[in-house]
Amino acid sequence: MTESMTLTKATQTEANPKPAKPHLPDAQIVTAVKHWTDKLFSFRVTRPKSLRFRSGEFVMIGLMGDNGKPLLRAYSIASPNWDEALEFYSIKVQDGPLTSKLQHIKEGDEIILRPKPVGTLVHDALLPGKRIWFLATGTGIAPFASLMRDPETYEKYDSVIMMHTCREAAELEYGRQLVENLREDELIGEMVEGKLFYYPTTTREDTAQMGRITDNLSSGKVFADLGLPPMNPAEDRVMVCGSMAFNIDVKAVLEGFGLREGANSEPLEYVVEKAFVGEGV
Ligand code: FAD
Ligand code: A2P
Repeated sequence: MTESMTLTKATQTEANPKPAKPHLPDAQIVTAVKHWTDKLFSFRVTRPKSLRFRSGEFVMIGLMGDNGKPLLRAYSIASPNWDEALEFYSIKVQDGPLTSKLQHIKEGDEIILRPKPVGTLVHDALLPGKRIWFLATGTGIAPFASLMRDPETYEKYDSVIMMHTCREAAELEYGRQLVENLREDELIGEMVEGKLFYYPTTTREDTAQMGRITDNLSSGKVFADLGLPPMNPAEDRVMVCGSMAFNIDVKAVLEGFGLREGANSEPLEYVVEKAFVGEGV
């Protein structure tokens, strides 16, 4: 059982036995909140009974604005589709219309969640392959937090490689703990054993593993470090989620390996989604 699941169960049984009934249309109740740094937090909310989604998809969530209208933003669902609750991993933009407020939510609060999941980071958008690479910067790890916890990922691929890069080590912690808990999970632990490769790097703080994802792919360092063959279109499939600049640069690297961008309507070798719109906080 993962730490986040334990957290939810504890929250529901001890602190908040019966989540209050939401008042707003499309409202869900916050069941847990965890702050990772002064710029990052994750939270869990109740899941609408009717909500079905494919791991990797995003939904629109938000709060009531001061003008009485919903203030909504796109958010990747970070929890897997089998989970009874929904998890999100969020940036805190100090003057951001939504996250300047969202960062203060606590257990029992309501958020708005439009139950219409969409997105390109789904298994259906890729041709079958041997290895799947998840490439993320910053909060771009959110869709992969879902996909890494989905048994389908391990049924479809022999190897699953999670490359996550942030400026500093503290920003990697959500992903690091998620992977650690996954390895210890009673149900999924066995499935990921020997299959899940986690390759976190920093770029602005000295740590054991450093460097941009683009550089570690282009130089071949990641293949050497993990004992994997260089990326090739016959065997490797890739999902990308990061800043606009990262997405553009990594696409060029993937095309250099001979991979082509696919979509739900035309599955190929890689797919891309923006982690956010804009060029940084
Ligand atoms: P906004 O006005 O939306 O943004 C202000 C500025 O903050 C942006 O111009 C950008 O420079 C910066 N910024 C916004 N989001 C981020 C971010 N995630 N990382 C770094 N800088 C950022 N955000 C999440 O935190 N988690 C998610 O899972 C997530 N999934 C998304 C999925 C999609 C498909 C898209 C398009 C965006 C996603 N976002 C996610 C971004 C999210 O929609 C909002 O932009 C974010 O919550 C900030 O909202 P805001 O109203 O406070 O500020
Ligand atoms: P760097 O520190 O070298 O800029 P940000 O916080 O700016 O969104 O960046 C998150 C991570 O993504 C950082 O480690 C950053 O490295 C890296 N990054 C930013 N832009 C690119 C890019 N164009 N190509 C590869 N990595 C990038």
